[in-house]
Amino acid sequence: MNQPLPASRPTKLLAADTSGIAEAAALLRAGGLVAMPTETVYGLAADATSGTAVAGIYAAKERPSFNPLISHLPDLASARRQGLFDANALALAQAFWPGPLTLVVPASSGCTVSDLARAGLPSVALRVPAHPVAHAVLEAAGRPIAAPSANRSGRISATSAAHVIADLEGRIDAILDAGPTEVGVESTIVACLDGAPRLLRPGGVPREAIEHVIGRPLVIAGDAGHAPISPGMLASHYAPAARVRLDAEAPEGGEAWLGFGPEGREYPASLNLSPSGDLREAAAHLFGYMRRLDEMGRKTIAVARIPEHGLGEAINDRLRRAAAPR
Ligand code: TXA
Ligand code: MG
Repeated sequence: MNQPLPASRPTKLLAADTSGIAEAAALLRAGGLVAMPTETVYGLAADATSGTAVAGIYAAKERPSFNPLISHLPDLASARRQGLFDANALALAQAFWPGPLTLVVPASSGCTVSDLARAGLPSVALRVPAHPVAHAVLEAAGRPIAAPSANRSGRISATSAAHVIADLEGRIDAILDAGPTEVGVESTIVACLDGAPRLLRPGGVPREAIEHVIGRPLVIAGDAGHAPISPGMLASHYAPAARVRLDAEAPEGGEAWLGFGPEGREYPASLNLSPSGDLREAAAHLFGYMRRLDEMGRKTIAVARIPEHGLGEAINDRLRRAAAPR
C-alpha cells in the first residue's frame, strides 16, 4: 500500500520523425505517458478517455489536486464531437485554430473525455495545437489527448525536451523531442459557457485579438492560471446528494461504503477504489464511484481512510470538499 508513486521506469527519448511519432501514438493508445511538443509548451500527454491513463499524469507531476485538464484534438471537426460550440466558440475556433487557444465549452452528450480529465465538470477544455508534430501525434492517436504542461507541479513549464527530462525522467514512458517550443507560454483559455465569453487564463493568443473576433470585451475571470474555477464552485460539482463521512472504519446503519485496500468483509452498497491499495487506480475510480454510490440513494456514504501520500493527497482533497458542510 506504500509503493512509491509514480513507479520508476525508463524514459525513451524519441526523435520527432515518422517512426518517433508512430511510437508516441502507440504508447498513448496503450495508456502510456508521453511528453510531446506543442507550440506553447511541452505537454505531458495521455489518453484523455482513460481515467487510469489520466491518473498517471497527476502521479508523474505530483499535482496536489485534480485540476481539469485540456484535451487536445487534431482539428475542429473532432473537437466538435466532444463539446458544444456556440457562435462565439465557433468564431474563435475558426480564427485561432490550430493555435494557442483553449476553449472551455459544455461537454457534448457524446463526449469521451474521462471524468477525471474533466475533474467531474459538465464542461470540457479543448485545444487544437498548431505544432506539426503534435498534430501528427493527435491524428495517429485518434482520440482526445489530455496534456498539462510537462513539468513537475510547482515548477516552471517545460519548453524544451531538456526541461522535461530534468523534471520527469524515470516517471514517463517517452519524450518526443522537437526542439524548443515556439510560443513558450501556455494557451489562452476562454470559456464559452453561457453567453459572454470569459478569459480564464491569458496566454498565447492576445486578448485584443480575441475581443476583435467576438466584437466585445472579454469578461475577466481573475488570475486563472492554476485555479480558474473557485474551489467552492468545484466543490459543489463534486458534492453528492448523500452526506459523506470520512476516515470511517466500516459502514454503519445503512450507509453506503467507499472502500480502499484489502478488506476482510463485504458490505452491501459498496465499492472499493482499489482492492490492492493502489492510489493511482483509486484516483481513476474516484469520481465515477462517488457518483455510483450516490445513485444508490443512501443517506450517507462512509469512506475508508485514504493514505495522504502521492495521489492520496488529491483524493483526500476532493473527498474533503465532498464532505464539507453545505
Ligand atoms: O498551452 C497549454 O495550454 C498547455 C499545452 C500542453 O497545451 N497546457 C496547459 O495545461 O497549460 P494545464 O493543465 O497546465 O492548464 C489547464 C488549465 C487549468 O488552469 C485548468 O484549470 C483549466 O485549464 N481548465 C481545464 N478544463 C477546464 C474547465 N472545464 N473549466 C475551466 N477551466 C478548465
Ligand atoms: Mg502548468
